[in-house]
Amino acid sequence: RSELHLRSILATVPDAMIVIDERGVILSFSSAAERLFGYSEAEVVGANVDILMPPSDAARHDRYIAHYRETGERRIIGIGRIVVGQRRDGTEFPMKLSVGEANSDGHRIFTGFIHDLTEQQHAELRLKELQ
Ligand code: HEM
Repeated sequence: RSELHLRSILATVPDAMIVIDERGVILSFSSAAERLFGYSEAEVVGANVDILMPPSDAARHDRYIAHYRETGERRIIGIGRIVVGQRRDGTEFPMKLSVGEANSDGHRIFTGFIHDLTEQQHAELRLKELQ
């Protein structure tokens, strides 16, 4: 029942929500995440979250998570950061990433909320052109 409840929430939250395990493996991928990145949930569940970012960060993301597990030092969790995401077709876009930590059946999981900043960036560029 709670699984169904979670599914219905994931289907309606406007921002993309992605849940990963402590090795960075995708456990769930919301409908908004499917639209934003161009992958279906079935395609990405079981894959590393690093498929959603450009090569520079993708090559380091496992280390980022390992560093946090080893030191407890938070660099994004509870802080948030503007980073660059990469869609299935290879195009990149600016996004606000917020990461939270939770516990599921004794396992540590991370929840990522992603807000697409493409429109905001376009608006800023138009504003600059007017100045
Ligand atoms: C850490 C980038 C998506 C979970 C980091 C860091 C960067 C980064 C740069 C480390 C910062 C540092 O050490 O200074 C990205 C990019 C993403 C992305 C570009 C684009 C898709 C996600 C998602 C999740 C996630 C969707 C969770 C569902 C984490 C965790 C850490 C981390 C748990 C370590 C904890 C922390 O630094 O606070 N990521 N990330 N990331 N990321 Fe990601």
